Amino acid sequence: MSERAQGAAPVVAIVGATGAVGVELLRCLEQRRFPLAELRLFASSRSAGKTLEFRGRPLTVRELGEDSFAGVDLALFSAGGATSRRFAPLAVRAGATVIDNSSAFRMDPQVPLVVPEINPEAIRGHRGIIANPNCCAIISITPLWPVHRANRITRLLLATYQAASGAGAAAMHELRESTRAYLDGRSYDNTVLPHPYAFNLFSHNTRVDPASGYNEEETKVIQETRKIFADPQIRVSATCVRVPVLRAHSVAINLECERPITPAEVRALLQEAAGVKLVDDAERNYFPMPRDASGQDAILVGRIRQDLSDPSGRSIALFVAGDQLLKGAALNAVQIAEAL
Ligand SMILES: NC(=O)c1ccc[n+]([C@@H]2O[C@H](COP(=O)([O-])OP(=O)(O)OC[C@H]3O[C@@H](n4cnc5c(N)ncnc54)[C@H](OP(=O)(O)O)[C@@H]3O)[C@@H](O)[C@H]2O)c1
Repeated sequence: MSERAQGAAPVVAIVGATGAVGVELLRCLEQRRFPLAELRLFASSRSAGKTLEFRGRPLTVRELGEDSFAGVDLALFSAGGATSRRFAPLAVRAGATVIDNSSAFRMDPQVPLVVPEINPEAIRGHRGIIANPNCCAIISITPLWPVHRANRITRLLLATYQAASGAGAAAMHELRESTRAYLDGRSYDNTVLPHPYAFNLFSHNTRVDPASGYNEEETKVIQETRKIFADPQIRVSATCVRVPVLRAHSVAINLECERPITPAEVRALLQEAAGVKLVDDAERNYFPMPRDASGQDAILVGRIRQDLSDPSGRSIALFVAGDQLLKGAALNAVQIAEAL
């Protein structure tokens, strides 16, 4: 960090402060009473001059520039990969530690990829940049870590139900407006996502690799799970789908362990797990829902049952829902900052 006195509160910058993740970063810093000497907000020229409230006071958003990081100790980036690639190294050179929400540095072997509940020790090896994992990866694997430690997971199959908020503030606007238009019988031209969103769902809006057939989101989940678990052998497959939910992602998960495992064992492990809340009421048919997960720090986990397709008794099926703007992005970043 820059040359502030040991133990002094840091000067913090948020890059992308006006975005879906950026506003949650402000909220997390405020709610968690993160100690800071000053908070500086940056975005593109489109938002320069806007104000955002922090601790009851308006803060003006400034246009990000190459000289924005003088005196900054901690820079929280959430403005897309291109902005991170260009400005994060400048921030580090100016003396700041960067926590980056984009995918720009996640698979760089020099950059720790951190979920504090799983691999907080990885933070120690950072060289200026720490990466926040993909939102689906965080939400899927945080509840799986206690299981993996108790009885190694050898294979993981994921099917995601991803909300509009994962594609940013503009996609949330598109879902609201296209739904309104659909109900009013008006036509609507989608400009943010590639397909009509109201009362529809579609394969995740990232490029499909013609060689593997997997889209970029699926590839991120697969690669990042291996890196965060520090387990290059774990076999992972994912199908990522965008659903017309405003906020919070859900994931159907099937996991296979090294040894036989029961739903009761998984429930007992998750009862104690950090960052996880069991919502598993079969009698009331009440399980994790994105509406319940929205605005919550905890990842909701339920529908824990034996995967009957595996007669060896080593497989479990479950369902999770988590607010990916919080634990999948802003909250995880602030938890990393706290650990620093
Ligand atoms: N949404 C999620 O759930 C989620 C989860 C994990 C990670 N992420 C990552 O977090 C980042 C932000 O996502 P988001 O969903 O918050 O997107 P968003 O709502 O579209 O917000 C983007 C933010 O970046 C700013 N920005 C864009 N171009 C810029 C530039 N050239 N210079 C400075 N600021 C610029 C925007 O400022 P203006 O207001 O000026 O346009 C806005 O503040 C992305 O890298 C995304 O992959 C998102």
